Amino acid sequence: MAEHRLSVDDLIWPIFIREGGGEPQAIGSMPGVVRVGLDGLAKHVAEAARLGIPAIALFPATPPEQKDAEGTEALNERNLICRAARLLKDHYPQIALVGDVALDPYTNHGHDGVLRDGYVANDESVAILTRQAVNQAAAGIDILAPSDMMDGRIGAIRKILDDNAFINTKILAYSAKYASGFYGPFRDAVGSSASLKGADKKSYQMDPANGDEALHEVALDIQEGADIVMIKPGLPYLDIVRRVKEAFRVPTFAYQVSGEYAMLKSAARNGFLDEKTCVLETLLSFKRAGCDAILSYYALEAAQWLRS
Ligand code: PBG
Repeated sequence: MAEHRLSVDDLIWPIFIREGGGEPQAIGSMPGVVRVGLDGLAKHVAEAARLGIPAIALFPATPPEQKDAEGTEALNERNLICRAARLLKDHYPQIALVGDVALDPYTNHGHDGVLRDGYVANDESVAILTRQAVNQAAAGIDILAPSDMMDGRIGAIRKILDDNAFINTKILAYSAKYASGFYGPFRDAVGSSASLKGADKKSYQMDPANGDEALHEVALDIQEGADIVMIKPGLPYLDIVRRVKEAFRVPTFAYQVSGEYAMLKSAARNGFLDEKTCVLETLLSFKRAGCDAILSYYALEAAQWLRS
């Protein structure tokens, strides 16, 4: 009688990458999640490949000395993401790679674009983001995921991909991305919280009070050439997932973000919740709301539970 079912096919696993080797580094606010060195990356992904996780999203923890005000390192064709993409494509050609298009892991102020007079400058940022997108596509990223929330970036990225003959690269648009407190642990993981120094992203991310606006954002991104749209965070915004899915009937993903992971993990570690039951229940709720796939730091554990 079950109307909905969660399967390993629904899961996308976000991972954090850093330079070098050695033991994976723990992230204090995300117990159980690590920053893995490039040298250990193939091994880190082996279990996900064995379980049949179809896609992985890559996020770099860029060394602070490589960050600058313009996020120049994002355009380096040998940056962490590009090297990670080539390495993973060699080892696991069956796994689709999702690359985050935004400057925050590369800027010394932690914003997703470049700052002019204290504000993120939309059009100048879009021009840089399109070059970042091509750089990632050339390294083998299959799905570009602009998470920056600049206006017009989906159309601009689609055009530059076409101009450079990347006709099979897909665009997963973070269309309805809210200015959320639930990104806190992620910002620790990539080191952007230290750079932001308490600043917020409210001038370009969405107001949690708004629902209709999400539909406008999604409509624009589809018009501009997005293959997939995304809502983020996940659980507090499942109403938006449902509205988007009903209105547009396009592939719709959601991101169970770092703070959602941290809540579940810390409650589980304290013995307050049964982890497997609660995590699988949240992931199934995403499906019931209308999601076609879910980005989750629990992807690997969930895949293990689903396979066992
Ligand atoms: C940045 C980006 C963020 C996340 C994904 N890409 C954080 C932010 O906007 O500050 C958050 C993901 C998470 O919290 O798990 N472009």
